[in-house]
Amino acid sequence: MSNKIIKKEKLTENIFSFVLDAPKIARNSSPGQFIIIRINETSERIPLTIAASDKESGTIRIIFMVAGKTTMVLSELGNGDYIKDVLGPLGKKGEIEKFGNVVCIGGGVGIAPLLPITKALKEKGNNIISIIGARNKDFLILEKEMNLVSSQIHVCTDDGSKGYKGFVSEKLKEVILNKTGKDPYSKFDRIIVIGPSIMMKAVCDITAKFGIKTIASLNSVMIDGTGMCGTCRVEVGGKTKFACVDGPEFDGSLVNFDLLISRQNYYLKEEREAVQYFKKGHPDGKCRLDLINS
Ligand SMILES: Cc1cc2nc3c(=O)[nH]c(=O)nc-3n(C[C@H](O)[C@H](O)[C@H](O)COP(=O)(O)OP(=O)(O)OC[C@H]3O[C@@H](n4cnc5c(N)ncnc54)[C@H](O)[C@@H]3O)c2cc1C
Ligand code: FES
Repeated sequence: MSNKIIKKEKLTENIFSFVLDAPKIARNSSPGQFIIIRINETSERIPLTIAASDKESGTIRIIFMVAGKTTMVLSELGNGDYIKDVLGPLGKKGEIEKFGNVVCIGGGVGIAPLLPITKALKEKGNNIISIIGARNKDFLILEKEMNLVSSQIHVCTDDGSKGYKGFVSEKLKEVILNKTGKDPYSKFDRIIVIGPSIMMKAVCDITAKFGIKTIASLNSVMIDGTGMCGTCRVEVGGKTKFACVDGPEFDGSLVNFDLLISRQNYYLKEEREAVQYFKKGHPDGKCRLDLINS
């Protein structure tokens, strides 16, 4: 039966990987696309990127960070459990062409959706320079996998516990300046960035100055994922777009990141209350599956 968790792995303290039985999605998905899941009849719908898909085994992989109540509940599921609804593949396929020198930038759990895109770009014959970052070394995921598809990889941590001490955006600036010398526009043909909105904004501000086309994968709040509810609306080039059907990938230089960030924070109070209420029933302060419907 579809939607069964075949393999659960804990990648870091708060990031988990599930391999799910989902043959139809595995057959039809492309890098850059996502699914919307509903754990049971009463839980909310949340979008998660398809981090990998295997047509032969009929499985997809999702990698998620525990951010609030729903991902907390999801992290308590285990091998053999089922997810009630798994809808997808959703969103537009990523643009996978031979561009030349491509810089792939991922922050936090954003490295998970970046990996299939990077692999596909590599297979198209692009030269890949990767810049990946996390809060500290214990929160860094998929370094080995990203290394395998990159000719050059830069690891960054906020606290310097691994690699470069600082943000991926700062490292990018260094990489552009070192690599390009006198002619900053000819060396990098495309940049892909996935991660927290504030990070994508910082990267796009830098690349706009250097005139390097940059694609950002937007993580606006989504409900239906089909362009009907309007929740995921974002402003791109002064026009309203729906990230679920028009994206999630957009030209970063045209994205109104300030609006995106303010809309992402719209339900913060309710999200915090949901977590507090949920944890109350658990003696360790952790969540309980039997409270999932409360
Ligand atoms: C296209 C897309 C792909 C994504 N892929 C991944 C992924 O591969 N791995 C991963 O860890 N996360 C991914 N996310 C983010 C993930 O959907 C949120 O972390 C999740 O919805 C949080 O739900 P929660 O109840 O646990 O947390 P909450 O406490 O409800 O929310 C925490 C924060 O998550 C965001 N969020 C909440 N609900 C939604 C929603 N319905 N849709 C989008 N964002 C929401 C908000 O910014 C919110 O402030 C993706 C988001 C989008 C739009
Ligand atoms: S999630 Fe409803 S329109 Fe995009």
